[in-house]
Amino acid sequence: MPKQILLVDDDEMLRKMTRALLARQGFDVIAVEDGPKTLDQLKTTRPDIILLDVMMPGMDGFTVCREIRANPATARIPIIMLTALDSVENKVKGFEAGADDYLAKPCDTIELVARINVLIRRAEAQAPQIAVPATTIARETARTIAVFSLRGGAGVSTISVNVAAGLSQLWEMQVALVDMVAVAGQSALFLNQSLRNTWTDLCKMEVIDEDAVLSAMLPHESRVRTLASPRRPEESELLTTEKVRTTLELLRSTFPYVVLDMPHDLSERSLTALDQSDIILIITQPEIASLRAASMAMEIFEALKFNEHKKVYIILNWTFPRHGLAFKDIERMLKSKIDLILPYAADEFVTALNIGNPPVLSDPESPLGVIFEDIAMALSKDAQLKVRPERPTMAWKRVTERIRNKKQK
Ligand SMILES: Nc1ncnc2c1ncn2[C@@H]1O[C@H](COP(=O)(O)OP(=O)(O)O)[C@@H](O)[C@H]1O
Ligand SMILES: [Mg+2]
Repeated sequence: MPKQILLVDDDEMLRKMTRALLARQGFDVIAVEDGPKTLDQLKTTRPDIILLDVMMPGMDGFTVCREIRANPATARIPIIMLTALDSVENKVKGFEAGADDYLAKPCDTIELVARINVLIRRAEAQAPQIAVPATTIARETARTIAVFSLRGGAGVSTISVNVAAGLSQLWEMQVALVDMVAVAGQSALFLNQSLRNTWTDLCKMEVIDEDAVLSAMLPHESRVRTLASPRRPEESELLTTEKVRTTLELLRSTFPYVVLDMPHDLSERSLTALDQSDIILIITQPEIASLRAASMAMEIFEALKFNEHKKVYIILNWTFPRHGLAFKDIERMLKSKIDLILPYAADEFVTALNIGNPPVLSDPESPLGVIFEDIAMALSKDAQLKVRPERPTMAWKRVTERIRNKKQK
């Protein structure tokens, strides 16, 4: 079911724009223009969240917020205050009135949607829960790695495919590569797989079970199995949150490793996938907009308390040749340290994409091959790292040799 938003703004133009923008993101939006109409509306509807303008003639946003909080029936609905006045004083006043969050207008769409989703989930998590019977808890054995960036073109797909292939080579195991990009995803393209089956075929099935999921995945000689993005944009609607959750749960109990090529948003679907991940790789580039997107993602992950149960790493991907920013400035902007740097390698990646063969497979001993083999090892399950495999793969021998050489230095 789509989440419902009650949008309150006296400015007709802004109200219409925000409404259209949120509707496009899949929300069900009710829009009203003032405080009294808001309180009226709340007598008959129970929205999942309220977006409340501060400056309105008659009753201002702070007053409306206090009224909503004072009524036990509406007291728990999350509220985001929206204002043209981005002052600390207003922010404090908003929180005192009982708002959960505060955003300056006009807001960035990605940020607004992310904050809406975060608050709705937090409210749901705090609602009284129905106990889950022990038998429905999945026998989760997989390690799930989500590769993520709020901006496109950062190298998310490139890295996902190479990590998945790296893991399959290292452990000679089947690895699930899941294209979470519901419109024009490209995971399968990187492995030159024809789109015989996609998410669409899976979502059209009456029952989604292990067999259904496996039959929808595209095989590859590397042992990577891809669940590909739908062929046509309109098919993306079939990928409901529920279906995505079920599929990922099944994959996690079937494959030892699941790699998620994530879309560049924090939609409900994306959050569901991130929720099920053990490791999140945030990909960023050495330019301001990309760094800002990465630090925004980190802030949101912190708000979601992801850091308590998941490992979040940052990869700086040098997608262009000349560097504009100094390394220390980059880390300062991120307010965090970078865990890994991927060098600029346009020729190698373009060739890899054209022939549909990622560097970690086509040339594992090239500089890029080495990097991805090492990443794959670093992301492997602890249990696998502790003991020498009975039949070590070539990849395992190469990585182990490199680690030994480094230690000796
Ligand atoms: N380190 C790099 N050096 C040069 N080009 C890169 C690098 N990483 C990625 N690219 C290129 O950037 C483009 C976008 O990469 P892609 O993986 O599709 O990004 P995303 O999935 O984040 O949109 C591709 O053409 C890819 O070949
Ligand atoms: Mg991509």
